[in-house]
Amino acid sequence: MGREKNSGKREEKMISVNIQQFGTDVGTLNLVPGNKVYGERLVKHGGQEYRIWDAYRSKISAAIKLGLKKFPLSENSRILYLGAGNGTSVSHLSDICNRGLIFAVENFSRPMVDLLRLSKSRQNIIPIFEDAHKPQHYSSLTSEVDFIVADVAQRDQLDILTKNAETFLKKGGIIYLSVKARSIDVTLTPDKVFSNILAQMAGKFNILESIKLDPYEKDHMCIVAQLII
Ligand SMILES: C[S@@+](CC[C@H](N)C(=O)[O-])C[C@H]1O[C@@H](n2cnc3c(N)ncnc32)[C@H](O)[C@@H]1O
Repeated sequence: MGREKNSGKREEKMISVNIQQFGTDVGTLNLVPGNKVYGERLVKHGGQEYRIWDAYRSKISAAIKLGLKKFPLSENSRILYLGAGNGTSVSHLSDICNRGLIFAVENFSRPMVDLLRLSKSRQNIIPIFEDAHKPQHYSSLTSEVDFIVADVAQRDQLDILTKNAETFLKKGGIIYLSVKARSIDVTLTPDKVFSNILAQMAGKFNILESIKLDPYEKDHMCIVAQLII
């Protein structure tokens, strides 16, 4: 993954498909040129428009800026996003996988309103107003996927992720799990929470990477893994 060179010169290089590095920032090729989703900065490069992906508002952007290695998305990728919120991160994945699909699951009505609005201008986002504990409720709306992003910030998030991975993840597919230590156990140190989660995943998942998201997200970790079939 691209890292900034300490040359004082603004480095512009392609990180992977439809993601460009601009100095210390990362941007995604805007699927809806001229449109901002959450007030992000727009940058012109090579005759195209990129949306700066705010690492303080998106854990995937934070992970990329902190050196994430496994991010093999393509234009055609299909992603299941659990805990889509109001679509900040989903919108950037929609830029990247501009010919793919993002199944965005959210179970609170307030962020769902924003997500529905977002999906009107972006045909590759399928908003799903459901509880991620119940993949059977949206299996008719969702196909097999290449990636699952789980950011539900719930104590039982590993169970939620496992059920969804067993239902929808294609063989060899990749999961990105955001762990917010305080949502799991406030009585333990974040490091203890992270090591407990990694230990619980062993046997079921093959861990590819784990990245602490400080300073962008305090006491969070992004875990990249594959389901062991
Ligand atoms: C940390 S926020 C997500 C932020 C979002 N991923 C982003 O980067 O823009 C967690 C979201 O998960 C949603 N959530 C929590 N439990 C859920 C569940 N069981 N099913 C679906 N969504 C859930 C919450 O409503 C909240 O919007």
